[in-house]
Amino acid sequence: MERFTGSFTQQDPIPEAAIAAALRVMQSGRLHRYNTAAGEVAEAALLEEEFAAQTGARYCLAVASGGYALACALRAYGVGPGDRVLTNAFTLAPVPGAIASVGAVPVFVGVTEGLVIDLDDLAAKAGQARVLMLSHMRGHICDMAALMRLCDARGITVIEDCAHTMGAAWQGRLTGRWGAMGCYSTQTYKHANSGEGGLLISDDAQAMARAILLSGSYMLYDRHRAAPPPEAFADLRLVTPNISGRMDNLRAAILRPQLADLATQCARWNARYQVVDDGLAQTPGLTRIARPEAEGFVASSYQFLLLDWAPEAIRAVVARCAARGVELKWFGAPDPVAFTSRYENWAYAPSEPMPASDRVLHAILDMRLPLTFSLDDCAQIARIIRAEVSAVFQGDLSAPEGQARAD
Ligand SMILES: Cc1ncc(COP(=O)(O)O)c(C=O)c1O
Repeated sequence: MERFTGSFTQQDPIPEAAIAAALRVMQSGRLHRYNTAAGEVAEAALLEEEFAAQTGARYCLAVASGGYALACALRAYGVGPGDRVLTNAFTLAPVPGAIASVGAVPVFVGVTEGLVIDLDDLAAKAGQARVLMLSHMRGHICDMAALMRLCDARGITVIEDCAHTMGAAWQGRLTGRWGAMGCYSTQTYKHANSGEGGLLISDDAQAMARAILLSGSYMLYDRHRAAPPPEAFADLRLVTPNISGRMDNLRAAILRPQLADLATQCARWNARYQVVDDGLAQTPGLTRIARPEAEGFVASSYQFLLLDWAPEAIRAVVARCAARGVELKWFGAPDPVAFTSRYENWAYAPSEPMPASDRVLHAILDMRLPLTFSLDDCAQIARIIRAEVSAVFQGDLSAPEGQARAD
């Protein structure tokens, strides 16, 4: 019986050019973004300039994390204590966490079998908030044209959580460029790796001026290059609190070469995704996620559904795959495990049950596809999942051979 021996959490090494750039920053000693020698442009400012150009955004701000970017975007649009913010029921904890961090209250919107926000549920709940924090969770992108029509008609500001969609597009237009602001994470498991880090993009001068001031720019905002003109700061500079969350030059230096290579990396992820997806075609009892034509996705992870399966059967699949080295995360587990949790687990945010979404969440199996996996690895992973799902589907709920790995 074959067993996969790779690590689902092992990313590629940092590229040589990024290591060399990081060394240069460390040798200079000038790690703080506003600590520049005469005539020097900080790595953080260059990163912002390059990411703005790459995404076609007017403005960009580099910050300390994706979660910081989300909270900063909410603050930049004036969201505060007691406000309600629409967001996805299917997302990860930093999203409702960012909403809670500004004292606001998440209003959860359901998820479809395509793993995107349910636009009918969004329409039904649209009256409850003036901001939607849209999470492109696990890289699944909803019909953005329809979503923007709905939100524009209701006067809802859309902040996009692109933590899982850096480089991805809907109808050829990048995520992060549909709403008022796009928020990215450059944390190790995302599409560019600086350990921790985040990026914000926008065309909105007022909101970006606020975000830059919020991030802790003191009165040094004129050192930014992808920033609004000084006039945009005039009325804001003394009334906007400094909630420090800047990115440093070291992380910016590590990111610049990675972002320059983003398209190549995205193609490598999608090649891996395709092998897994093909390998799981027509597996009895297993539902693959249909990807619409318009979705230019970047798949750094893979999801499938075991719709209407009993919990014991799903647990058996997870355990049997784990015993063969394949780590699946189950969104239906009664208690949150590792990075995975569900809207009703976020007890600080009250929610009404959503039976149709619960059916989908209960069915979601999720795994990472790091670029350290070869295409052969991906084919093997698919064979193992296929075999174990098929065995359990046919009624074999027996314990796996050997010891299942802890999650
Ligand atoms: C969907 C989603 N949004 C936002 C974030 C926040 O990113 P960070 O870890 O950089 O704060 C994450 C991180 O895991 C995420 O998965």
